[in-house]
Amino acid sequence: IPLKNYNTFGIAVTAKYFCEVTTLEELKEALCLKDYPSKFILSGGSNMLLTTNINALVIYINLKGITVVNEDENHVTLKIMAGENWHNMVLWTLKNNYGGLENMSLIPGKVGTAPIQNIGAYGVELKDHFVKCQTINTKTLEEHFFSKEDCKFGYRDSFFKQEGKGKHIITAVFLELTKKNHILNTSYGSIEEELKKENITNPTIQDVSNAVIAIRQSKLPDPKEIGNSGSFFKNPIILEKEFKEFSSKNPDAPFYKLSEKEYKIPAGWLIEQSGFKGKRYGDAGVHTKQALVLVNYGNASGEEIVQLASKIIKEVQMKFNIAIVPEVNIIK
Ligand code: EPU
Repeated sequence: IPLKNYNTFGIAVTAKYFCEVTTLEELKEALCLKDYPSKFILSGGSNMLLTTNINALVIYINLKGITVVNEDENHVTLKIMAGENWHNMVLWTLKNNYGGLENMSLIPGKVGTAPIQNIGAYGVELKDHFVKCQTINTKTLEEHFFSKEDCKFGYRDSFFKQEGKGKHIITAVFLELTKKNHILNTSYGSIEEELKKENITNPTIQDVSNAVIAIRQSKLPDPKEIGNSGSFFKNPIILEKEFKEFSSKNPDAPFYKLSEKEYKIPAGWLIEQSGFKGKRYGDAGVHTKQALVLVNYGNASGEEIVQLASKIIKEVQMKFNIAIVPEVNIIK
């Protein structure tokens, strides 16, 4: 079964066996099937790079539904099933005037994978609105709830990417949003600029969402047109000593001070300065408008993207003495 349409990078590998599950019962049944060599869980396919054919039963999670599980005058708690498309869910919350997710508009992928890497954009992360998630243990089939603390969220990181990797399938996510007195987060530079451009002085959550959509569309490739997985690398975090050396050599480099000791450097800047922005090798390339995004112009193989990534890592290391690491899950 071809998987090209099941991963946003558009890599043309195949699955030996494939099934789609739309209920928890079907998911449990599929996990129990004994006649298959192994199982591979697939959801939005928006944060993975497939490099080989999958010799397993691919279980495509397509659980749907959004329900209000709790609400008072000011807040609402939603239970969102894993197979809901993230951005469509965000639009649904905005239509209902529920605030909190507007900065995370237009992120590709599905709700169930959002906690794995604690998705985030424009100053807001999933963890800021996360209450808990519901999971199924892939071995015992037991259902669990993971609280925010259990998930150990970090920058593009969580329990599910570390110790918990492969052990649990997230089936639903619970988020708490505001019903009024929305707390807007427009401090991320380009949002304010975008609002100004539209002459909006008193923005609503819809306005912020529209601004984020406009910014994203101007920089990030639409996976429907050009295969990609968003940021391919994490922004590296370096210590004060390294930062001093780095900034004395590169006084114009952008950076975010995280604490007295830690500084985050935009990998996109490092990659652009290393000369890779817009470069293309066959069908594998570095996006023309955002160097942090690797793209598949059509028929690149996963291996070609990996090779390009290695080349970039090496070059950035040589030029800046900074190690950058992929945030995308590379499947070998
Ligand atoms: N920059 C360059 N050249 C580039 C790209 C960026 O010089 O080619 C510079 C920009 O000028 C700016 C800085 O780097 O000074 C930061 O750029 P930007 O605001 O575009 O954000 P980013 O750090 O590159 C991160 C996230 C994005 C998220 C944006 C906005 C990571 C790994 N990436 O990118 O997330 O949308 O911030 O919040 O943290 C994703 O994870 O898939 C993703 C797109």
